[in-house]
Order: sequence, then C-alpha cells, then structure tokens
Amino acid sequence: MNISDAERVASVLEKLKYKETSNINEADLILITMCSVRQSAVDRIYGLIEKFKKLRLSNPKLKTILTGCILKKDRKKFAKNFYYVIDIKDIKNLSRLLGNRESSTKLRPEELNYLDIAPKYSSKFSANVPIMTGCNNFCAYCVVPYVREREISRPAKEIISEIKNLVKNKYKEIWLLGQNVNSYKDGKTNFPGLLKIINNIPGNFWIRFTSSHPKDFNDEVINAMAFGRKITPYLNLPIQSGDDNVLKSMNRYYTVKEYKNKIEKLRNKVPNIALSTDIIVGFPGETKRQFNNTAKLFRDIKYDMAYINKYSPRAGTPAAKLKDNVSTVEKKKREKILTEILKQTALEKNRKLIGKETAVLINENRGDNYFGKNEHYKTIKIKSDKNILGKLVTVKITEAKPFTLQGELIK
Ligand code: 5AD
Ligand code: SF4
Repeated sequence: MNISDAERVASVLEKLKYKETSNINEADLILITMCSVRQSAVDRIYGLIEKFKKLRLSNPKLKTILTGCILKKDRKKFAKNFYYVIDIKDIKNLSRLLGNRESSTKLRPEELNYLDIAPKYSSKFSANVPIMTGCNNFCAYCVVPYVREREISRPAKEIISEIKNLVKNKYKEIWLLGQNVNSYKDGKTNFPGLLKIINNIPGNFWIRFTSSHPKDFNDEVINAMAFGRKITPYLNLPIQSGDDNVLKSMNRYYTVKEYKNKIEKLRNKVPNIALSTDIIVGFPGETKRQFNNTAKLFRDIKYDMAYINKYSPRAGTPAAKLKDNVSTVEKKKREKILTEILKQTALEKNRKLIGKETAVLINENRGDNYFGKNEHYKTIKIKSDKNILGKLVTVKITEAKPFTLQGELIK
C-alpha cells in the first residue's frame, strides 16, 4: 500500500515538473512516504533526519517532505525536522505547498480522494491498484486504524477503468490492495463481485489481492476464487496467533477452528492453493503453551510462506497499555521455531513441484540469472540468454529449496 501511495506521490511531483534522480546529493526535494506499522520503520526516519541535515550543508535549498502513515505523536517531532509533514490524503495539496508554504489552503472535501490520482507506476508489467483504504477493525496491536482512519472503498467504475487501461498496456499482474479487501463495498458491488468483474476483463493477466481478514473471508470469496481463472491460486490469510485466548486479546474476532474450517473449504474448492500467513510472536501475555498452539497450527496447516513478526508495542493502541512481558530473546526463539517448521512444510510442498511446469512472471535479473514469481507466488530462478524481464514464461521445475525453486525455461 505504501508503494502504491508513493506511486501517486511521484505522479503529483511529475505534474509539478520535478525530475527523478538516483543521486541523493543532486536532489532539491526529497519526499518520503513512511510506514508506522513497526517502530523499526519509524526509527529509520529519525535516522534519515541526521542524513538530511548533512545534505543541507552542501545544498541549503533542499526541501524534505514527509507523508504516508504517520502517528500523531511522531508528527509533532517530525514537523520540526521536515519542511512539511503532509497527510497522504492531502497529497493533492503539494502543488500549493511547494509553490508557497505560507499560503497553503486546505483542500475541499471533494478534492480529498487521493486514490483517484493516476499513479506513476513503478513497473511496466505489475501494477498495484488500491481498491480501498483505511481499517475499521482495531486489532489491539495495530496502528493502521489510527493512521489511515476509517475504511473508504474506491468506486468500482474507477478501479475497472484503471485495470482495463493497464491490460491494454500489456500489464501481466494486477495487485488489488486494501487493509481488508474483503470489506470492499461500492453500492451493490462487494469484493467477490469486483473479483468477478475484473476476471471478465479480456486479456492475459493475473489477479492477486492482499490483505484479507479471516473474519470476513467467506464462501462467496472462495467461490469467486474457484471461478476466476485469472485469480492466482495464492492467498495470504493472516492468522496472527494459533491460540484462541491470544486471538481474543488481539481483538481478532475469530477462533482457530473457524480459521481452519475456512482453509479446508478453500482447499476443497481450489485444491492447488498456496497459503501464506502473518504471525505475531510474543504478544503481551503470550505463554509458552499459547505459543505452542501457534507452532501446532503451523504443523497442521503446512503454510507455503509466513511473515513472522516479533510483537512491538505501538503507542496509542490498546495493546500498548499491556505489559510487553515476553523478552526479546524469547520472541527471537519463538520466531526461530516457527521459521524451522515453515522451512520443513514449504520444502515438502516445493519438492512435489519438481518435474512440473509452472507459469512465471519474470520480475528481476542479474546477468543471465532471471527471477520471478509463479502463480503460487513462489520465487523461481532460471537462466536465460534472451531478455525475458516482464514476460510470462513457462518453466519446468528442476530443484526445490524452502523459499526458492530453480527451473528451466520451456517457453
Ligand atoms: N508488532 C508486530 N507486528 C505487527 N504487525 C502489525 N502491528 C504489529 C505490531 N505492533 C504485523 C501483523 C500484520 C502485519 C502487516 O504486521 O502481523 O499482519
Ligand atoms: Fe491492522 Fe489489519 Fe487489524 Fe486493520 S485488520 S487493525 S490493518 S491488522
């Protein structure tokens, strides 16, 4: 979502005739789209402030602007160190701000929809298309509802027209983005409805989406995934913990059993689905026994991938009032245990792919080594003497590791 926001910021700057540079010493303007989900990301911005002070010594005209997800408590501190701190929703105000700092006026409410800004896409074959922003869920550990405020869905018409345009321009992968895409709503169009409409757009492209909240992931979405041939067989469904009591303190509104039932239904309808999840280890009060329930869940579900986070308290959230009583050493230990289980289950699954053919969208190259993601969002490495960057190719898998597969180019 932050990358997508940055693409909109870049487009506004381009309209203001700013040119991009890869040399920071040359820049007259540095604009940062920050993230506040983890404290480490916020600390990085504090680190950059020192760097900018040095840059300003050789270029006193340098302006630095901060936008993205910013917590109120950090905003005041950042305001002292940045030329301007601006809400991502006010990004259309940039022209006024950069023209004359003093005379900046607030945007009218009808101008506030920043998602209708045409982005400057950072890739020529994979596009991020936000369908909604904000979150109404208030999970106990999370800052998102405070920095992105309440959910707003983009009009379906606007999304469809953007995607039709991308497909016309030969984009191969469309990521539908939102904090909780399952609660998308525009009049009668809900998320499964939107998936069906996009799936019916003619063309050879993949549909991916993130993020989903398990409480809203329902039969209708499962049916849309089973029906939509362009929807890739990959799902990130963050469980956060495998223990019902921890889930309750996290304010997640589902039980492990309910989550597992949904996965079972999905696997019945989309048998080759690849699954990933997000986990927080060391949530306040998480006992060893409760953590063991998460480890058990990992063994039961057999994820293809997992994003394992060590709990970090975020000011202003309900969990920040609880004692962060799992030590850093213990959090690291729990992270390692889950990573080891994940490595085993992912390798077990990847080995079954040896000898099979898979479609891969190539997104990176280093010399004649090419890298890409297949339909299941697995990283594939192949060699090619032709330039296949941005191409959808067919690859035969020859070697499997837990998080990468090696293959040969078929076509
Ligand atoms: N501490 C650790 N991880 C967090 N996440 C969100 N907030 C926190 C926090 N305070 C993780 C969740 C979420 C992912 C985007 O970031 O797992 O799914
Ligand atoms: Fe944060 Fe996601 Fe929970 Fe919303 S649903 S509060 S974004 S973790």
